[in-house]
Amino acid sequence: MIFSGIVPALADPILGLTAAWRQDSRPAKLNLGVGVFMDDAGRTPVLESVKRAERLLLDAETTKTYLPIAGTPAFADAVSALVFGPAFPAGRAAVLQTPGGTGALAAAAHLLAALRPDAAVYLPDPTWGNHKAIFAAAGLPVAPYPYLDPATRTVALDALCNALDRLPADAVVLLHACCHNPTGAEIPPDGWASIAAIAARRGWLPLVDFAYQGFGEGIAPDRAGLLALLSAVPEALVCSSFSKNMALYSERVGALSLVAADPDDAQAALTHARRVARTLWSNPPRHGAAIAETILSDDALRTLWLSEVDAMRTRIAGNRALIAEGLSSRLPDRDFSFLAAQRGMFSYLGLSTAQVARLHNEYAIYMVAGGRINVAGLPTARTDYLCDALAAIYRDTPAG
Ligand code: LMR
Repeated sequence: MIFSGIVPALADPILGLTAAWRQDSRPAKLNLGVGVFMDDAGRTPVLESVKRAERLLLDAETTKTYLPIAGTPAFADAVSALVFGPAFPAGRAAVLQTPGGTGALAAAAHLLAALRPDAAVYLPDPTWGNHKAIFAAAGLPVAPYPYLDPATRTVALDALCNALDRLPADAVVLLHACCHNPTGAEIPPDGWASIAAIAARRGWLPLVDFAYQGFGEGIAPDRAGLLALLSAVPEALVCSSFSKNMALYSERVGALSLVAADPDDAQAALTHARRVARTLWSNPPRHGAAIAETILSDDALRTLWLSEVDAMRTRIAGNRALIAEGLSSRLPDRDFSFLAAQRGMFSYLGLSTAQVARLHNEYAIYMVAGGRINVAGLPTARTDYLCDALAAIYRDTPAG
């Protein structure tokens, strides 16, 4: 027997928060945990562009037969154009459709385990809580590299570059293309140039997590760091997702792009990625990918979708500014400018475990360890509640 007397596993540190929040009977409860966009009424609506694409699909769909293991060529073309932009050399990227960004990371991990089994994967410290588990589950050694300067809450670029400049050529380095999760601290353009030069010199393989395209500065500007990197290195793995920017969370639509110097190598690498996918999920789900493909290949739907991405980004930026102002007005001697400078769905408050527990116990505010709040989860009418609670916590903490 394997289940008799088994000790239950710990709840997931991010998704487990939503389950706990649902069970919480306190009326003031506020869910700033999982990274899901919410409107001001706390809903996660289906985008209008998605609804329209679904209506088209409903009429046009003739079969539910399996997709090819890598997904359709049209989906691959749409992903390539979106992720890499119009000027990227044709054929350098081969695309595997995956169940969400997590599926892309899992496929990347298992591909690396097959092709480069001794490679260590270096992750920014801090990083998304699931990264380490995904690579470790594929049997790969995982190690951190410095990312955040805790004093300024910006990227510790010198420490980061020094660390990456010491890595061996068989290392794999995970970078967040934009909207760093959990910190929101972005690598500046000169930082990307330095990282690209180091990657080219040292020969390690970049693995770029691009889960939030469109939530930083916009669809095109958000790929600038990635493109700077790819102009300097011959090869990379890129994991992208439509969970956030098309709000297709539960449809599980993502992609692993294999970038090579030579298109033949990219296609040959894809044959290995297909074998990985076959053992993990066999072939990918159709509906969400068809939605993304339909939106991206139809001018009117694409324009509508881009305006919806802009609206989500604008709401997040507005909430970010409200929180920064709310805290600055309550604690005028402290600097909260880092909050407005951060990008993406998350703000990182750099809180201790005890402080996060206090916010949960005394205020029913849910956030991820370290003090990551989902800015898009805040109804604007609750800003004062949040800022009062945070200010009470900060008041009890010496200014750092
Ligand atoms: C998050 O970081 O909250 C999201 O990426 C959702 C998840 O799967 O953790």
